[in-house]
Amino acid sequence: MKIGLLGFGTVGSAFYTLARECPGTEIARLLVLEKLPQADCAQTTDFADIVNDPAIDTVVELIGGLHPAYEFVTAAMKAGKNVVTANKQLVCACYDELVTLAEKQGVALRCTAAAGGGIPWLHSLARLTACDRVTAVSGIMNGTTNYILSAMTDQGTEYADNLREAQRLGYAEADPTADVEGYDACRKLVLSVNIAFGVSIPEAEVPCFGISGIAAADIAAFKRLGLVCKLIAHAELTENGVAACVEPMLFPVSGQMAHINGPDNLISLRAERVGAQSFAGAGAGGFPTASNVLADCLEIAAGCAPFYIAERRPLSVGNDGLRQRYYVRTDAGADSRLMTVREAHALAAEYKNNQQPFFMAAVAEEK
Ligand code: HSE
Repeated sequence: MKIGLLGFGTVGSAFYTLARECPGTEIARLLVLEKLPQADCAQTTDFADIVNDPAIDTVVELIGGLHPAYEFVTAAMKAGKNVVTANKQLVCACYDELVTLAEKQGVALRCTAAAGGGIPWLHSLARLTACDRVTAVSGIMNGTTNYILSAMTDQGTEYADNLREAQRLGYAEADPTADVEGYDACRKLVLSVNIAFGVSIPEAEVPCFGISGIAAADIAAFKRLGLVCKLIAHAELTENGVAACVEPMLFPVSGQMAHINGPDNLISLRAERVGAQSFAGAGAGGFPTASNVLADCLEIAAGCAPFYIAERRPLSVGNDGLRQRYYVRTDAGADSRLMTVREAHALAAEYKNNQQPFFMAAVAEEK
């Protein structure tokens, strides 16, 4: 496999190292903003040198963001090249277009590292959908927020210091707003839902409430109750469509969730025949994510279908059916309220619009 590699950041540089150690994969050319002495391969600052090179069969996109990643990925597929990307923002926003293009061009499109970092979650999910009906997906899908919440809980350190450390360690997005407001987890949830249920749901319909408003006093209150806070992305099939949201959730300190620390993720599915399954591991970071990118390349080299799943039934999101207990804290103090997911997120939006202090977390049901 001859690879055109786009980007040499945290994941790109780790992929460069792994791919060069892997027999059968060659980085034919690297796209960079300016030539890098630390990369010992052909380099260019012009994408045309990659897309027009007939020797390159696969483009690995690790620059992130919507543009110019969208232009590069679509041009690569139109030129008959396979694409591997870790770019959840791009694949989520242009899901139907990119999957349709891959099918039309007869090339492969893989994005396993886009959800779960180093965990082969999307790959395993797709494998299961061939023989079972998946009815729910949920879990910790963002490493940065899990790192921040774990450190605030275990070491009593400040939110802002932990966010800075997550950025330094290469877990956070270029703009960490996507992490802390839940948008990154939301994109991973949308990809998971689309593949799990053979559908296409709009990202904008999934309500997101992140952790940027959390205070040390909230963490202290959870501790007194024997609870631990995690940012959870959740979706399940309902009679009318799909219920889906991203929100902080409280779990018993003695349970499995409470023991997922640092940038790790724990993602679970429920399926009719196989029951419940969980996948845990490094959800962010250079080498774990790059390892999933390389595994996608090897899957393509071995010959695989254009995308994980061919079905893409449009489906809308509705959150009226799920009622749960929430911890709610405003400047009037903290209390507990029973609300539907729709009501809870509407309340959060109201406080946000009025720029008033607010934090909420759903209380997970004991299983
Ligand atoms: N910023 C992401 C996270 C990187 O923290 O999970 C991995 O997708």
